[in-house]
Amino acid sequence: MDNKIGVGTGIGKIILIGEHAVVYGQPALAIPFPATKIKTTIRRKKGSITLNCFFHQGLLSNSPKKLVGLVSVIEQIVHSFNERLEDFSIDIESSIPPERGIGSSAAVAIATIRALYDYYNRPLTDDELFKWANVSEQIVHGNPSGIDMSIIIGETPLYYIKGKAFVPFTFKLDAYLIVADTGELGQTQAAVSSVRKLIESNPEEGKSLIKQLGVLTNRVKVSIEKKDVVKLGQSMTKAHSLLKKLGVSNSSLDRLVSVALDNEALGAKLTGGGRGGCIIALASTIQQADFICDKLLSNGAKNTWILDMELIRNGQ
Ligand code: PMV
Repeated sequence: MDNKIGVGTGIGKIILIGEHAVVYGQPALAIPFPATKIKTTIRRKKGSITLNCFFHQGLLSNSPKKLVGLVSVIEQIVHSFNERLEDFSIDIESSIPPERGIGSSAAVAIATIRALYDYYNRPLTDDELFKWANVSEQIVHGNPSGIDMSIIIGETPLYYIKGKAFVPFTFKLDAYLIVADTGELGQTQAAVSSVRKLIESNPEEGKSLIKQLGVLTNRVKVSIEKKDVVKLGQSMTKAHSLLKKLGVSNSSLDRLVSVALDNEALGAKLTGGGRGGCIIALASTIQQADFICDKLLSNGAKNTWILDMELIRNGQ
């Protein structure tokens, strides 16, 4: 009994296209990013619950404000099991840089929910997992579209429309996707609320930008089906300029996008909530991807990853 343990994991995700527009019912395309992951381990330990993670080491009850979504979901789950809120420790190890638009908040919640269910030996369906993760994401993000949770739970590329069933999306492309981190914390909640304000204050422009992003997502879907990486890249770059008009880019993101494009990327854009966080860029060969990564790193990127788009984990 004394060495009782529960373990749960969650991977990162990349929004290929459709961020922000997805909050307003437009489609988005996202892919799993298993190069980054989170592992939560819960161990039996006498006394008050402790939490050991990037943002906090100490009592769960003394966690900083930014962890309020996670703390709330932990408390609600333990209560729902009719268990006492004590006598365990929570350790969260993460290789997903936090607040960079690659899904760390949803992945932390998902890994921790899985670990709690494992610790208490309860079965967990994907629907329950989504429901609990949404408790945390509602607090963290305000009005999440659900795309992060869906992709992290399903671990398969998705064509996603808010409120509709997940549509797994198979693709295999002869191209490489670069992810580059500005090192700056993204501001998803602030960016989502500024888009809402833009739509309220200037509905014509705001709605038109959202609609154009939706059209681009559908265009990207066709480009992927036709394996047209040139058109895919063009749509990514166009999406970046629309996101910029929506007010969710910043100078560091714009700079990395320009560096990628100046060095023969087929396309580049911010990914996720924006105002910091990461960009993605498309390269047609691994040599070109390596070259672009070097240029990004010497021009301010703090980290880069390369995903082989032939090997994206698909759903079947
Ligand atoms: O920054 P992230 O990884 O949480 O992605 C946010 C994506 C948005 O479309 C901006 C918001 C949402 O809820 O879909």
